[in-house]
Amino acid sequence: MDKNTIKAAELLKKAKFATAFTGAGISVESGIPPFRGNDGLWSKYDPVVLDINYFHTNTKDAWRVIKKLFYDFFGKANPNPAHTTLAEMEKMGILKALITQNIDNLHQKAGSKEVYEYHGTAQTMVCTKCGAKYHSPDVDLSILPPLCKKCNGVLKPDFIFFGEGIPPEAAQKSSHAAERSDVFLVIGTTGEVMPASMLPQIAKQNSAKIIEINVENSNYTNHITDIFLQGKAGEILPELLNAINQV
Ligand code: APR
Repeated sequence: MDKNTIKAAELLKKAKFATAFTGAGISVESGIPPFRGNDGLWSKYDPVVLDINYFHTNTKDAWRVIKKLFYDFFGKANPNPAHTTLAEMEKMGILKALITQNIDNLHQKAGSKEVYEYHGTAQTMVCTKCGAKYHSPDVDLSILPPLCKKCNGVLKPDFIFFGEGIPPEAAQKSSHAAERSDVFLVIGTTGEVMPASMLPQIAKQNSAKIIEINVENSNYTNHITDIFLQGKAGEILPELLNAINQV
């Protein structure tokens, strides 16, 4: 076992408040493509489809791509060993909070309880007119855009579009967790998108040790990362848990 993994395991074992911060990379081994990088979604689709103004002005076109990207394979992805290991770390009392930028619900499916969905979720939809909420699997997407059964308003996925604010409760709990963490795991994220990308910086400014897991360098690696465990999250995290059980 390499010395970095052992060092990370020792930090986590004695941590008073460890938080995990995850991005799209943690779900890649579940078959969900990331946004950036060679086979990233943004290399095939224009991110404008997730711009809130575009959604309101080109609703049908936006919904056509949103359906393809987020709903055609909806519910078919399953947690991978990275998700299940974080859930295990929470059960062991090692992980106190999990902040995710992902909208795929895989952390909850894996059993994690204290999950803050910083960018909302694809699990529900909301009426843009009356605010009525729908469970996404119950919404018929054969006709786009989907309309509210109550007021005929256009439904929007409950995840955050570019130009929208962060859900207040997730924002507050995430900042609080970042401020009080003494160990902060950064897993599978480029650190490209504000304000989510500020959370590891907040943790660092509050003297947290940053342990990063990624297949390649991110915006954090040569700046705030204390221990960089290079590799796939689905392989690194089980190894890390194994080391925690041995130190
Ligand atoms: N294990 C660990 N990391 C991985 C793996 C893997 N198996 N596969 C890819 N990665 C890494 C990539 O190297 C990259 O750093 O995951 C990261 C994915 O980066 P992005 O696609 O930019 O995802 P993310 O950082 O979560 O994007 C943030 O951007 O488009 C918005 O709202 C969207 O929440 C998203 C936000």
